[in-house]
Amino acid sequence: MQKLSALTAPMALSNGVTIPGLGYGTYQTPNEETKKAVLEALSVGYRHIDTAAVYGNEQGVGDALKESDIAREDIFVTSKLWNTERGYDATKAAFAKTIATLGVDYLDLYLIHWPANTKQFGAKAAELNAETWRAMEDLYNEGKIRAIGVSNFMPHHLDELMKTAVIKPMVDQIEVHPGWPQAEAVRYNQAHDILVEAWAPLGEASALSNETIAAIATKHGKTAAQVCLRWGIQQGVLPLPKSTHQERMAQNTDIFDFELTDAEMTQISALENLGGQCMVPDEVDF
Ligand code: A2P
Repeated sequence: MQKLSALTAPMALSNGVTIPGLGYGTYQTPNEETKKAVLEALSVGYRHIDTAAVYGNEQGVGDALKESDIAREDIFVTSKLWNTERGYDATKAAFAKTIATLGVDYLDLYLIHWPANTKQFGAKAAELNAETWRAMEDLYNEGKIRAIGVSNFMPHHLDELMKTAVIKPMVDQIEVHPGWPQAEAVRYNQAHDILVEAWAPLGEASALSNETIAAIATKHGKTAAQVCLRWGIQQGVLPLPKSTHQERMAQNTDIFDFELTDAEMTQISALENLGGQCMVPDEVDF
């Protein structure tokens, strides 16, 4: 098989925008370390950087974008709207703040970070999500964002959102890793032409010590991390691994020159309780 780099493995979103098929995650990277980490990620080939207002490191990402000699249009930048900023006006204001902090004049992708849930908002949850989405649609129509989507939305949140949405989300970023495959949500999104991105694709490193994954990795001459990421890619799921070590960042891009068999895919998909956050969006209280 021809070896493809992360840079040359674009996936298409439903609106025709292409997105590099592997992204660099920045959750929990402190702002002061983010510029260096993102510059290193860019230097090993990443062209897709995922941040969020709540990570507190949009400025570090923006500093790296400025310092890098790679053109802005060659880097796919995602950020997310935090939960305290839901609603039409607050969403628009939060977006303005995000692009100012990043120092960019447009975003490639903007996501609603979490659905408002009925545990916190009762019958008002659906309306709040709809109003937030209406602002996302307007920002998209104004040309300030190339694609819009959601994060941590389960099928029933999307069913509800689609009742009022004019534009369908192009992406749903959810927690997906061995031990937490979220098969139903992945199937639903793919049936609706919504690209699934995986946060914590290594289960926050918890999947790396699993014996089944380690044995499959040995067979392919790959690492456990590469097998976890490949398992995502082969399902059409776009992984967003995090690492602050440059050799691991590079290792995590080297996943386009091997293929897991159907039996190995099934074996990995059947693993349970490996770790990670395994969060249920209807139960969170933030
Ligand atoms: P580090 O930043 O020290 O490299 P996830 O992306 O699922 O959230 O997992 C992130 C965790 O996995 C971090 O603790 C990161 O540690 C670790 N990690 C990332 N890539 C690798 C790798 N290739 N080998 C081992 N650990 C990795």
